[in-house]
Amino acid sequence: MKRAFALARRGEGKTSPNPMVGAVLVKDGRIIGEGWHRRHGALHAEAEAVKAALDQGISPEAADLYCTLEPCCFTAPEKHQPPCTGLITKHGIKRVYIANLDPNPKVSGKGVDILTKAGITVSTGLCAAMGEDLNRAFFTFHRLHRPYIHLKMAQTLDGRIAAPDGSSRWITDEAARRMVHRLRACYDAVLVGSGTALADDPELTVRLVKGRNPHRIILDSHLALPLTAKVLSALEPEKNIIIHSDDADERKAGELRSFGVKLIPVKKDHGKIGISLHEVLKALAELRIQSVLVEGGARVYSSFLREGLWDRLWLFTAPIMIGGGVSAVADLGLTSMGEALRFNGTFRHVAQQTLFEADRVDA
Ligand SMILES: NC(=O)c1ccc[n+]([C@@H]2O[C@H](COP(=O)([O-])OP(=O)(O)OC[C@H]3O[C@@H](n4cnc5c(N)ncnc54)[C@H](OP(=O)(O)O)[C@@H]3O)[C@@H](O)[C@H]2O)c1
Repeated sequence: MKRAFALARRGEGKTSPNPMVGAVLVKDGRIIGEGWHRRHGALHAEAEAVKAALDQGISPEAADLYCTLEPCCFTAPEKHQPPCTGLITKHGIKRVYIANLDPNPKVSGKGVDILTKAGITVSTGLCAAMGEDLNRAFFTFHRLHRPYIHLKMAQTLDGRIAAPDGSSRWITDEAARRMVHRLRACYDAVLVGSGTALADDPELTVRLVKGRNPHRIILDSHLALPLTAKVLSALEPEKNIIIHSDDADERKAGELRSFGVKLIPVKKDHGKIGISLHEVLKALAELRIQSVLVEGGARVYSSFLREGLWDRLWLFTAPIMIGGGVSAVADLGLTSMGEALRFNGTFRHVAQQTLFEADRVDA
């Protein structure tokens, strides 16, 4: 199963909205075929493993299949591949070991039922924690019906994310920035607030490593983004999404649309900053965006933290001080130490900075 997980990981950043999946076929104590889901639309891992065995002239009959996720069992117009349960029964596979059940309601438990009814011995839960970690975006999306949210911040030793003039380039060194570009390539989307879009004019693309560009989302109630913004002239303009309030200027909306930008009008969150994050995440889930890397700024971080809408936090701290400027997180609405948000995470070094990593733990 560990081999199957190593194979699955090769699909990182390429399979969404599908999960990463790996499969290994074992017969008479040796591996006769292995595979992984290489990208959305490509063969499923189980089919790759069976094909690999057949290509060597070895029959998968009576073999054991180790599969990181429950084999799929349905057909749908938007689905590119036939059900893997059919393939497994057709080739006479004897036992199937599965790490995680598929949370997708079209599969969840039904794949196991079909295999069991066909006389196959099925065992679930082997290395399940590895699967939860590998496909955390996919699992979060199907269980909570919203994208997986990763907050990424970079601050100075004195807790600032920008200088008094708004400049923030660069707080971290290239090693940390390369890590962030690698993250971008693995997420379906990156998101910033209008404050950051205006102050930094970021491109929000993957440049320091090889990888595909994510969708670029800007929360911009009043469509303040200038038509000269770099993000608008980036390649793949269809990947730009601006979420704005439903009373924004229609003329400006038209101008932005002419750049190929997708505009999503959302109700204003009265009494709160900007747009309702619940509405934002609902709209993104409808676009099948399963994971979002939130890249700032202070008010956007504070909104996600206040609403408890986050799953992972990465905070880089670089060995510089500026003594003023923008605090890493804006007002959280707390007044006393007893109300502080407490994280259970770990620190590690990345070149010159520390990286604090924490996952949200449900109470
Ligand atoms: N070091 C770092 O890691 C880092 C990363 C990013 C940014 N920065 C710096 O941070 C500064 C910008 O931070 P900021 O706090 O001024 O701006 P911001 O958080 O980037 O954007 C805030 C704006 O986004 C809009 N927005 C829409 N919906 C929102 C919601 N639900 N919650 C919060 N905001 C929402 C609001 O403007 P509308 O009402 O107009 O929509 C709001 O004023 C810049 O100086 C930038 O350089 C640093």
